[in-house]
Amino acid sequence: METRVIFGHLVEEIAREAGEMLLAKRPARPEVLATKSSPTDVVTALDRACEELIRSRIKAVRPDDAILGEEGGEAGEGRVRWIVDPIDGTVNFLYGLPEWAVSIAVEVDGEVVAGAVNVVPRGEVFTAVKGGGAWLAGERLRCNTGVPLERALVATGFGYESGRRRVQAEILGHVLPRVRDIRRGGAASSDLCSVAAGRVDGYYERGLNPWDYAAGGLIAAEAGARVGGLSGRPNSPGFTLCAASGLFEELHDLLLPLDPERDA
Ligand code: IPD
Repeated sequence: METRVIFGHLVEEIAREAGEMLLAKRPARPEVLATKSSPTDVVTALDRACEELIRSRIKAVRPDDAILGEEGGEAGEGRVRWIVDPIDGTVNFLYGLPEWAVSIAVEVDGEVVAGAVNVVPRGEVFTAVKGGGAWLAGERLRCNTGVPLERALVATGFGYESGRRRVQAEILGHVLPRVRDIRRGGAASSDLCSVAAGRVDGYYERGLNPWDYAAGGLIAAEAGARVGGLSGRPNSPGFTLCAASGLFEELHDLLLPLDPERDA
């Protein structure tokens, strides 16, 4: 079997197991264990336990691969790197909102080749293997096409630091009057899967980390969306924009003059 297909099976299997563990162990009101970039950027005990479970499963089958995880950072080096967000949408997880996900991707030589996003409370596992399409419950996903800016439902998200948020709110003030409406789901990986599934038409956000977009970005791309940064740059923590061609360019041209990559 082709290596990327094997990676596809592994990311899905591990994301499913991690999701089951989280559902079984999630207390009614999870406690905040620590904060990171700001007092609202939280870590719960289950973020850490889940990442440990995922790391141990990866090491059992692929002991020599590198792993980058939201909670544990980077370990190892080599051509193959796993990119893990044990709970994307931690604030939703904390509040009991049904929009949080386990996100796992595999990168080979810097290119994401397999990804799984398990939106656990909804029981939805989105998967993709590079060149093999994006899938949900046996159905091939296709993003919406031909949607003009003024009819586009656009998802976005906000960082945790107040200066960045002030700019993000300012940008939003220019976008909202130009589109159908805005959605703020609270989990970037799930937002990207929503583009893949045609549940929103586009998505943009400044300041994501690779664990937020690696798996979801592949899933959106395999569903036919364009995923990138601004001014022809690739998708990066600087900026992530995702939509079918046509809307991608319209959103890009609306956003670029607003200088959305600044934090003050
Ligand atoms: C966050 C979520 C959120 C996005 C933030 C991310 P976390 O990830 O994906 O939707 O707006 O930029 O940091 O902290 O819940 O893993």
